[in-house]
Amino acid sequence: MSLPNGIKSTQELLDAQAHVWNHIFNFINSMSLKCTIQLHIPDIIHQHGKPMTLTELIDTLRVNKAKSLCIERLMSIMIHSKFFSKIKISEEDEKEGYWLTPASRLLLRDEPFSVTPFALAMLNPILTDPWHDVSKWFHDDHSTPFVTIHGRTFWEHAGQDPRMNQFFNEAMASDARLVASVIVEHCGHVFQGLKSMVDVGGGTGTLAKAIADKFPDLKCSVLDLPHVVSGLKGSKNLTFIGGDMFESIPSADAIFMKWILHDWSDEECVKILEKCKEALISSKDNGGKVIVIDMVVNNQKGHDATETQHFFDMMMMVLLSGRERTAKDWEKLFFAAGFTSYKITPVVGLRSLIEVFP
Ligand SMILES: C[S@@+](CC[C@H](N)C(=O)[O-])C[C@H]1O[C@@H](n2cnc3c(N)ncnc32)[C@H](O)[C@@H]1O
Repeated sequence: MSLPNGIKSTQELLDAQAHVWNHIFNFINSMSLKCTIQLHIPDIIHQHGKPMTLTELIDTLRVNKAKSLCIERLMSIMIHSKFFSKIKISEEDEKEGYWLTPASRLLLRDEPFSVTPFALAMLNPILTDPWHDVSKWFHDDHSTPFVTIHGRTFWEHAGQDPRMNQFFNEAMASDARLVASVIVEHCGHVFQGLKSMVDVGGGTGTLAKAIADKFPDLKCSVLDLPHVVSGLKGSKNLTFIGGDMFESIPSADAIFMKWILHDWSDEECVKILEKCKEALISSKDNGGKVIVIDMVVNNQKGHDATETQHFFDMMMMVLLSGRERTAKDWEKLFFAAGFTSYKITPVVGLRSLIEVFP
């Protein structure tokens, strides 16, 4: 048998085929996860309170009887992906039941750190459709594949489609709850001594509210697009401002930006950072700084971390005109906008807290 050029053995040929298959069908992991969430399987097993047999799960799901055995196949791939485990229920008849893993506990809808809103938003067809036309986008003049498919930018679409506005804001709020708890617990010192802070692009204010509650003397504002903050009520030390960060950012001792700069190109980031610097002008004596929460590419090793960083980088290219950045990339942006120093603290998993000083 003649082997393709550059392939040395039959084993290498078969391994290459398996590798390609794995990549062709990678989306089945995402879609099986989406189906599991939509069927509420983690919640059902959690409410059951103990390992659940296939029959019990099928009875509770009340799916079409003709398809009930397909649930076993769905559960099988989800066990393989470490979302569930199979536990022996009785020694005598070797009965087994499905149980939750740490990953599926994060899918429970009542769990404060639930990633379910994030998963459902990221796997919504509005966000996944552009992936089919990335190659077309490479030849056209649109800023992103999202624009190629939908005819308007991500933020324009969110502003004009109330359903997208809602699911996207809920996704961000769910992530903000988890990040807020880590920051408030491990990075309190970062906010010490500040009298005022603006969370730029702060969404519906989940993170700003957690900080405002923890530091009652810190005056917090959330600046976001009018369709995101309209109708939101603040508190004694939290206010909402509808506006555009490219136009102006209110003055404060600190400007907070979580998952903002990775949405934008280098040129746009420098413009945002310059606006931040203007907003900090009166705060030099109160420790003025910008606090960024974003990824620093390559500061976490391991195959999974690297792959996730690639996923996010591609997502920023396809949906927005942003990118994920290395420490060197960040430094270039900060210095181009006139900041003089910065400190990276890798404290939120794949993301870091970066303090940037004027
Ligand atoms: C990826 S989300 C991050 C939300 C929030 N910071 C978080 O991480 O939970 C980006 C946010 O930037 C807001 N945004 C986009 N363009 C903006 C602009 N020109 N001015 C102010 N906010 C903007 C969006 O509405 C959205 O809430």
